[in-house]
Amino acid sequence: MFMSKKIIIGNWKMNPSSLMQAEDLFKSIQKNISSKIKTDIIICPPNIYLPSFAKTLAGKEKLKKIFLGAQNVSYEEKGAFTGEISAEMLKDIGVKYVILGHSERRMMGEDNFDINKKIKASLFAGLVPILCVGEKERDENHKYLNFIKNQIEECLNGVVKNSVSKIIIAYEPVWAIGKNAKREAIPKEFLEMSIFIRKILSDKFGVKSIKKTKVIYGGSVNPKNVLDFLKEGEADGFLVGRDSLNPKKFTEIIKICEA
Ligand code: PGA
Repeated sequence: MFMSKKIIIGNWKMNPSSLMQAEDLFKSIQKNISSKIKTDIIICPPNIYLPSFAKTLAGKEKLKKIFLGAQNVSYEEKGAFTGEISAEMLKDIGVKYVILGHSERRMMGEDNFDINKKIKASLFAGLVPILCVGEKERDENHKYLNFIKNQIEECLNGVVKNSVSKIIIAYEPVWAIGKNAKREAIPKEFLEMSIFIRKILSDKFGVKSIKKTKVIYGGSVNPKNVLDFLKEGEADGFLVGRDSLNPKKFTEIIKICEA
């Protein structure tokens, strides 16, 4: 698993504050990425910056390992849904991935049923869903395992077997995310969870259908812990928040994955 192709996703959240800053950041990342790398890099900026980035990437061989992702999508196809953006609209401007079920969106009221509809709408439009799951805290009785199982089962309810390998599962323990993180997760915790997640998926969809499904780690990923998560945690990739806004750290993370 350590040798398989990795994916690194940069979740910029609601940053930076201007198009000019966003383009600068995007350029600083681009210039350090060779077209020869094996790792897929997915940049998920605020939607408003996506068209400009799509233009930059269009037809450029050198930038072929960089892809665009959104941080959310509507589950509706079109119509009277003020403020919403559909999966087809994202696809149309060149977006390939979409982060769904991030804990920050769940905190705003999104639940597993909304996420389930968003996953189906994304798959239907040809976007690759990045499904985030993660418990708020770990209890001694291991109730958090059931919590994760429930998140996965409800979010993937009704998804057809053939589509499961297209979905990326990002395990992001909420207690390890952001500047208020309680502590960093350790690779062993991720490894155990990714085995558990694969078991849930194979029980639900069959072991064959999930062979290519990637399980990645997110939560305070940085250049110092990434190698351990690769080696000991056997992560298929990473979802990076804060350090994706720092071109030096982000490209360092990419280089470590490549090496
Ligand atoms: P962090 O964020 O890397 O800043 O902890 C991760 C995330 O929220 O996806």
